[in-house]
Amino acid sequence: MLSRLLVTGAAGFIGSNFAHYWHRQYADTPLIILDALTYAGNRANLAGILGHPNIELIKGNICDRALVDRLLTEYRIDTLVHFAAESHVDRSILGPEAFIQTNVVGTFTLLEAFRIHWQTQGQPGHYRFLHISTDEVYGSLGPADLAFRENTPYAPNSPYSASKAGSDHLARAYYQTYGLPTLITNCSNNYGPYHFPEKLIPLMCVNMLLGQPLPVYGDGQNIRDWLFVEDHCRALDTVLHHALPGQPYNIGGEAEIKNIDLINMLCELMNELAPDLPIRPTQALITYVRDRPGHDRRYAMDISKIKADLGWQPSVSLSAGLRKTVTWYLNNRDWWLPLLPADYQKYYQQRYTGR
Ligand code: NAD
Ligand code: TYD
Repeated sequence: MLSRLLVTGAAGFIGSNFAHYWHRQYADTPLIILDALTYAGNRANLAGILGHPNIELIKGNICDRALVDRLLTEYRIDTLVHFAAESHVDRSILGPEAFIQTNVVGTFTLLEAFRIHWQTQGQPGHYRFLHISTDEVYGSLGPADLAFRENTPYAPNSPYSASKAGSDHLARAYYQTYGLPTLITNCSNNYGPYHFPEKLIPLMCVNMLLGQPLPVYGDGQNIRDWLFVEDHCRALDTVLHHALPGQPYNIGGEAEIKNIDLINMLCELMNELAPDLPIRPTQALITYVRDRPGHDRRYAMDISKIKADLGWQPSVSLSAGLRKTVTWYLNNRDWWLPLLPADYQKYYQQRYTGR
């Protein structure tokens, strides 16, 4: 029944993977992309599908209510898939304002526009608003704590996670108050192709290829749960088609690992796969730097609900997914090199030296 999608933020990492995935599965479905093309948004992420008659990219801000209203009406949208966000914790510490604007005000703008659109059309039962969120809203776990469940109380610790928590609450409230068919998913850390090289995994890949230091925050013992991005896209497809509105779902990779162990896996893969490296073995580049303020110690997702209700589970193991990812960065220098500041070495040293 889902026939006409508006996808926000699909020039970014997960959104672009979703656009590729969706187009492979449902090439007949129109997919309208609304993206502000911030530093994290990149037309090149949509290479291969942008020319297709069913795919359209509109450059614009999710806070622009008139634009959102127009797109919903003009393209007769019945499904809104909302990825657009400011997404990097370190940037949220340096400048939280953009996070409140896009993540909270932007999500509110979309919900309100979609509510009016849905009501104007007579509240069709098949309309969906899928809000994509993160495990970070639940806060930080100790080593022996049970993994986050859908009913774990929210306890965000960074401006990023607080802004995402605010947007989750709004999406929930629109279901409770207006009956708007919203779906909320909270996912663990993703990795894979088209990941902007400021997040841990792509940054490590790029720095290994350039012979730059590999910065490990604090003691490197923080734990994250990693999911290959295509598995996330498949989970979102499943939720869109089968979940009941108002039901939150946790999504995760069941692949918890300490940062330092993950970095060592990446080093091993790069040593094996890269024919020429400025510094070999790449482990020699590992550099401990000052910790991130408020750095969450551990995230872990309990995904038993999505498994039981919808039959989804991750299909790509961490070692297989990392191999694919390292290979992708190795083969796609033309994608990531233009994203780095021209004076990368200097920029990089300013950013990390003395951290
Ligand atoms: P990203 O930073 O790679 O991409 C964000 C996209 O949103 C970019 O294309 C950017 O141009 C666009 N955007 C930003 N502000 C906008 C605005 N005001 N109007 C329109 N477009 C705007 O992010 P990502 O890693 O792909 O994350 C996508 C979503 O998934 C986010 O909501 C994030 O919170 C969530 N999420 C991410 C992860 C992860 O590991 N990356 C994990 C769980 C959930
Ligand atoms: P990141 O990719 O920024 O995702 P998030 O903070 O949203 O989980 O970071 C993943 C982990 O890696 C996190 O514990 C912080 C750590 N980290 C480093 O140790 N060094 C780095 O250069 C970066 C970017 C992150």
